[in-house]
Amino acid sequence: MNEVIKLLKSHTSIRKFNEKKITDEQQQHIIEAAMQGASAGNMMSYSIIKIQSKSTLSKLAKSCDNQPFIENANLALLFVADNYKWHKYFKQRGISDTFTDYKGPSISDLMLGTEDAMIAAQNAVIAAESLGIGTCYIGDIMENYEYHKELFNLPKYTMPIALVVMGNYDTKPQIRDRFDKQFVVFDETYPSITDKFIDDMFSKEESNDADFAKKFYKRKIDAPFFKEMIRSIKLYLNEWER
Ligand SMILES: Cc1cc2nc3c(=O)[nH]c(=O)nc-3n(C[C@H](O)[C@H](O)[C@H](O)COP(=O)(O)O)c2cc1C
Repeated sequence: MNEVIKLLKSHTSIRKFNEKKITDEQQQHIIEAAMQGASAGNMMSYSIIKIQSKSTLSKLAKSCDNQPFIENANLALLFVADNYKWHKYFKQRGISDTFTDYKGPSISDLMLGTEDAMIAAQNAVIAAESLGIGTCYIGDIMENYEYHKELFNLPKYTMPIALVVMGNYDTKPQIRDRFDKQFVVFDETYPSITDKFIDDMFSKEESNDADFAKKFYKRKIDAPFFKEMIRSIKLYLNEWER
């Protein structure tokens, strides 16, 4: 197994950071690795906002569903799906004079911007991990539309997709299990998903707790943070043209 595969297979999220700083050189490597990720049409329909100020980290620790460890990160990178810059460019060059049906970025532009942003984010995570730096994604950045828009001065046609918090750490948690390959990887076409498939897929979880489905639903899907995420994401989606 080569070193990259070893690194990828030893991934765990880190939620306890120590005081040691990420150096400027490390930060530069992480950002340049992020930016070298594949990007649809090489449009790079995303922006990266670097967050190091304690005050902003502390605000995010509250606004991202009260996760105090965010405040102790040394660096956070906010990956924003960004169709605004290309939209501004098209407007500045009078594109809609020639292409009169152009109104602004569409939902498909947002999908591509989201893919670009996540690829960049994951490159940053891998680069950081290769430097011995711990990372954790914070999906709750998609909540609180109004608050995060204002906090980061985000214009129309931009949406925060992933926040990655980073820092050095003392101990690495155990690697978390994944679903077995047979439930995730299919040959050539999508299989018919039988009741047995589902029973088998969740057998490990349910052998530990027969009520796993209900408890998981209550903890995640039925939780206030999830309802807030639905509300907030709908507001972002409304900004894009259909
Ligand atoms: C899109 C996304 C959003 C996530 N949001 C959070 C979060 O808000 N808080 C958190 O502690 N972990 C978050 N995580 C980390 C996951 O909980 C973690 O990746 C998962 O439990 C598997 O654990 P591992 O990364 O240690 O293997 C997120 C991961 C992803 C990919």
